[in-house]
Amino acid sequence: MRKGLFLTIEGCDGSGKTTACTSVIERLTQEGYDVMYSREPGGSDIAEQIRKVILDVKNTAMDVRTEALLYAASRRQHLIEKIIPAINQGKIVICDRFIDSSLAYQGYGREIGIEDVLKINQFSIEGYFPDLTIYYDIDPQSGLNRIASRKNLDRLDVESLNFHNRVHQGYQIVCQMFPDRIKVIDASKSKQEVSEQTYQLIKEKINSYESR
Ligand code: TMP
Repeated sequence: MRKGLFLTIEGCDGSGKTTACTSVIERLTQEGYDVMYSREPGGSDIAEQIRKVILDVKNTAMDVRTEALLYAASRRQHLIEKIIPAINQGKIVICDRFIDSSLAYQGYGREIGIEDVLKINQFSIEGYFPDLTIYYDIDPQSGLNRIASRKNLDRLDVESLNFHNRVHQGYQIVCQMFPDRIKVIDASKSKQEVSEQTYQLIKEKINSYESR
């Protein structure tokens, strides 16, 4: 049995997941919980080096399977170096994106196939699925409008609306594949509501974990 908890947050670009999570982490930390926040791709030195290659807007020649393998490689390194050690210390690990991003973006968005991308990721994570995943559901166009003013858009942000629509559909399929693990929040609601719902879901998980 895991000593700590492994939570992940997921959503299309511009879903507001990172903002919601930041305020919840502050709240949990004030309550005395030992929380570690991390994000993918990246989160450790080697994984961040892989992130640069994946997201560089100049890498237009990147093959879709190369992209999927690089995400899986970055995930593996981050999991081994950062996530597992923190969970073994009893921390609550909150990771911004994990395996479901690859299933939705590479599996469905890039049309490789969710099952094939799941297979390479099973090799990468060796059964280390999150205890809880929160998916922030937003209409892709609204998400893209939210990030339009950002200065540093990456190689995936600048993809077509069609691609982002497919990613959104991919997420719906992934939610149906893992209904017990993935909980959905309507991310079109106000920041306060989204953050409150995030807090409630995480607290429920912590409470059920503490009463094991
Ligand atoms: P971020 O904008 O949340 O930092 O994520 C970077 C981009 O990488 C985002 O567009 C989603 C994408 N991504 C994938 O396509 N597959 C993955 O497995 C992960 C973790 C992210």
